Amino acid sequence: MIKIIKYSSQILELRQEIMWPNKDIEFVKIKNDNIALHFGYFKNNKLIAVASLFPNNQIRKVAVKEKYQRMGIGSELMKFILKHNKNKSYWLNSRVDKKIFYENIGFKTIGNEFKKNEEFYIKMKI
Ligand SMILES: CC(C)(COP(=O)(O)OP(=O)(O)OC[C@H]1O[C@@H](n2cnc3c(N)ncnc32)[C@H](O)[C@@H]1OP(=O)(O)O)[C@@H](O)C(=O)NCCC(=O)NCCS
Repeated sequence: MIKIIKYSSQILELRQEIMWPNKDIEFVKIKNDNIALHFGYFKNNKLIAVASLFPNNQIRKVAVKEKYQRMGIGSELMKFILKHNKNKSYWLNSRVDKKIFYENIGFKTIGNEFKKNEEFYIKMKI
């Protein structure tokens, strides 16, 4: 089940565990988190995936718990967000090694790769 959830430490903990396990919790906080829309995927009432949509139409911090990856959950969550406001265009910075995941959903690459915090990213748009 997917629903919009309140900004909470649960979201930050999932982001940290999945995306930045070697950084502290402060590192996964985003400036506009308090005004973003946070989407949560629940399985047996447990939060197993998150993604956040910011007012500038950027989708950030897409994270699926490791044992549930490659089961279609991330795709389902992304499609739910896209459906939320069908006529809008959305963008994100994909980790380069996750580009295929977003391509499968319909995102197209724009611009060149860049490096931030030890990771390589590419901007994508739909
Ligand atoms: C990337 C992520 C959000 C994808 O979610 P998911 O639920 O595992 O993805 P899905 O099962 O919906 O995958 C759909 C397709 O995307 C592609 N894909 C997904 N994860 C991939 C990966 N790690 N490497 C390459 N391709 C990937 C595959 O084509 C996959 O189809 P397949 O499993 O039939 O081969 C998830 O693996 C994750 O949280 N990873 C760690 C955090 C992260 O990197 N977040 C994204 C930052 S930009």
